Amino acid sequence: MKINKLGAFIGVEIKDLDVTNIQDKKVINEISELLSEFSVVIIRNQNISDDEHIRFSEFFGELELTKVGTDGSGSKLIILRNFDEDGNIVPPSDRQRLNNLANQEWHSDSSFKKIPSKMSLLSAKMIPSKGGNTEFLSMRAVYNSLPDDLKLIIEDKVCWHDYSHGRSKIDPNLVTPQERKALPPVKQKLVLKSNKHGKSLYLGAHCSKVDGMNEKDSAELLNNILQYTNDQKLVYSHVWEPHDLIMWDNRAVLHRATPIKGKVEKRLMVRTTVAGETSTINESF
Ligand SMILES: [Fe+2]
Repeated sequence: MKINKLGAFIGVEIKDLDVTNIQDKKVINEISELLSEFSVVIIRNQNISDDEHIRFSEFFGELELTKVGTDGSGSKLIILRNFDEDGNIVPPSDRQRLNNLANQEWHSDSSFKKIPSKMSLLSAKMIPSKGGNTEFLSMRAVYNSLPDDLKLIIEDKVCWHDYSHGRSKIDPNLVTPQERKALPPVKQKLVLKSNKHGKSLYLGAHCSKVDGMNEKDSAELLNNILQYTNDQKLVYSHVWEPHDLIMWDNRAVLHRATPIKGKVEKRLMVRTTVAGETSTINESF
């Protein structure tokens, strides 16, 4: 297994590994350690089936079942695509395309769940020739860049995360009544402290407000923090190569897709999501 560092704060790539043929638990432990330290791990050259993707993901914990209203609902896979069953690119007003727009906002997968996910594993099946990158923002590096007085203010803050919050800004009807009912807002800690490599901020598009503050004060505090996320040095932007498999720590990075450039070409990704073990509210540190 060859390992190379990619971004300044996050991202390593692994070469010479076949995830369908792992004989030794030590390899899984080593990948977990890399993920804990570098937050994003890219495993090159994995031309895997959906079943193989699921089997590899299950080494890291129990998988989430895909929520209602998403392609793959009820299974262990989320299918992200911009075309229909017949292979035609869907129009910009289609739910799939609007959801893709939502995925272009910084977010953490499943932060709207009471016990949010631990990590996600994404495999590219069809990649457009220009754009459609996946970007990762180190929330540990963002936390470290905050001034001390701001760190003190936010140390024990709790935020509300709501699936419909970010999506409603894109289109008020994007979230269905069924999704709203299945996904009520939940509380999450703003500063996560359980990773041995340092504290990180838990924010993203699903974060709607700071608990116990009025709308104005909450928006001011969140905007104050968010200005520190606008630093390209803290970002690792991944240009997909065929058969890349990417894993990331949802409690240490935010991620987003970048738009496809030029003529819209097909993009097909499949994802598994490893469930968390505790709510951020109950994390032990
Ligand atoms: Fe995502």
